[in-house]
Amino acid sequence: VKRITTNTLQKMKARGEKIAVLTAYDYSMATVLDDAGLDVLLVGDSASNVMAGHETTLPITLDQMIYHAQSVVRAAKSALVLVDLPFGSYQGNSKEALNSAIRVMKESGAHGLKLEGGAEILESVHRIIAAGIPVMGHLGLTPQSIYKFGTYTVRAKDDAEAEKLKSDAMVLQEAGCFALLLEKIPAKLAKEVSESLHIPTIGIGAGMHCDGQVLVVNDMIGLTKGFRPRFLRQYLDLYDGILDVAQLYIKDVKTGNFPDEKEQY
Ligand code: KIV
Ligand code: NA
Repeated sequence: VKRITTNTLQKMKARGEKIAVLTAYDYSMATVLDDAGLDVLLVGDSASNVMAGHETTLPITLDQMIYHAQSVVRAAKSALVLVDLPFGSYQGNSKEALNSAIRVMKESGAHGLKLEGGAEILESVHRIIAAGIPVMGHLGLTPQSIYKFGTYTVRAKDDAEAEKLKSDAMVLQEAGCFALLLEKIPAKLAKEVSESLHIPTIGIGAGMHCDGQVLVVNDMIGLTKGFRPRFLRQYLDLYDGILDVAQLYIKDVKTGNFPDEKEQY
């Protein structure tokens, strides 16, 4: 199998071929998703929520991100593996950012990184790209800034924030980012940004005009019970599926129905 690269993604945009991305955090899930043919597996800091049970993405550490990334890299034969730099590992200064970036690349074997923010983190983006590390930008609802926003609602609905986002998108493209993630912004704005950039946009809650789409895999397979935002298409109801068989197993154990004769030595 041939490895998808950042160049592949840029060619896909040029050809008008949509890019399919899901998050992944562990070896078993990443094996299935890679086998299914996902273009990109994103080791998102949403691991903080769906793997560790935190309310926000802020608590997850660089070491924990590296652990998740290592597991996904071992599984991915063709997918490009991207990793989120977690909160606190790159905002201090560009040297700290570069050190964090190098640690993830060296210790996990991932193929690129994602950082939240625009002009504010430009120096860090420059420095990481100068070191030969591919960077995906992330604008719109950037969950590491949740305490600044105060809400997970749609971003850039007003002109000022939309203008800032468009300017940041250009700045990140100029800096050499290979792609841009757009989270929870109006579809019309995402369309405008996607058409104005030569690098691909990957959307989540950013409408149909992005060059690709991403979802948190646990949401997409229905494991995160009760989380049903408009942008989420839930393809499975795995929570209830697992609940049913877990209860069946409990019953089988309690009644002595498991194991049977064929299931013992
Ligand atoms: O951490 C994450 O899951 C993300 C999303 C945008 C998919 O960054
Ligand atoms: Na993230």
